[in-house]
Amino acid sequence: MARDIQDKRILITGASSGIGKCLAQQFAPMGAKLILAARSEDKLNALADSLPIPKENVLVVPTDVTKEEDRAHLFERTVAQFGGLDVLINNAGIASWAHFADSTEEILRQIMEVNFFAPAELIRKAIPILTDGVEPAIVNVASRCGRRALPAWSEYSASKYALCGLTEALRGELARFEIDILLIIPGLTKSDFPQHFLRSEGKEKIEFDNGMPAEDVAARIIYSLQKSTTETWIGWDTYWMLIINRWFPRLVDWLMARRVRQLYEAG
Ligand SMILES: NC(=O)c1ccc[n+]([C@@H]2O[C@H](COP(=O)([O-])OP(=O)(O)OC[C@H]3O[C@@H](n4cnc5c(N)ncnc54)[C@H](OP(=O)(O)O)[C@@H]3O)[C@@H](O)[C@H]2O)c1
Repeated sequence: MARDIQDKRILITGASSGIGKCLAQQFAPMGAKLILAARSEDKLNALADSLPIPKENVLVVPTDVTKEEDRAHLFERTVAQFGGLDVLINNAGIASWAHFADSTEEILRQIMEVNFFAPAELIRKAIPILTDGVEPAIVNVASRCGRRALPAWSEYSASKYALCGLTEALRGELARFEIDILLIIPGLTKSDFPQHFLRSEGKEKIEFDNGMPAEDVAARIIYSLQKSTTETWIGWDTYWMLIINRWFPRLVDWLMARRVRQLYEAG
């Protein structure tokens, strides 16, 4: 199927920054009607004002995706403005970069709330609305950590694995409503993501500024939506890690354990 973006009603969570913001900027000239959700109302308003589309085609809904009342309000506003929804993009996400042993239950729960429970409940609420949509789809932005977990990313990896598992299970369930559910697996991406980490104490040197431009990741997501690609890996770091891990998972375990020892022996 080749999905046309023109006139599609597309809800993007995490639209205030990074990949979500780039998605909005690229969907706008394609004739989409956009619902922009995140907590930062000022950033969403500035983005909406900058988009080259009629004002009535963009709706800003300040939303904390972890709050049930905000999620309900988000869909109420969407249906009131546009009469329905065609595409839900679960993109909002947070992470913590540090070791699990000295982390906290609160951090684990917060990451699971944003990265897993929120998209899960948004999907549950969206299903009856999407069922009446045009070429309906759900796009879940996971991570390569959702296909190969990494040290110092334990809570984040767990949350993204959960999102990948939910997506796969729902693929069969949602087929009877003709709703596509697509999985996006990006690698390292240049965005404000590191500035939002709950903890940032990992010892490995990770150059987020050398990651893929968020614009490129957004373009690949849109292409996958147009083509209805079931699962999209983005970035060479994702490819080499997931392919090596597919054939030699114990080798990857061993290399990672050795690297952690080296980093901690170095102090
Ligand atoms: N950057 C990477 O290297 C990378 C790699 C793989 C996957 N990803 C995934 O890509 C997605 C987008 O990340 P990004 O790189 O664009 O990061 P980002 O620039 O930090 O953007 C994250 C977005 O999520 C929103 N958000 C966070 N908590 C929220 C909440 N409780 N309610 C509503 N919105 C919330 C933020 O908006 P507010 O703060 O305004 O609420 C922001 O718009 C995430 O799911 C991330 O896990 C990123």
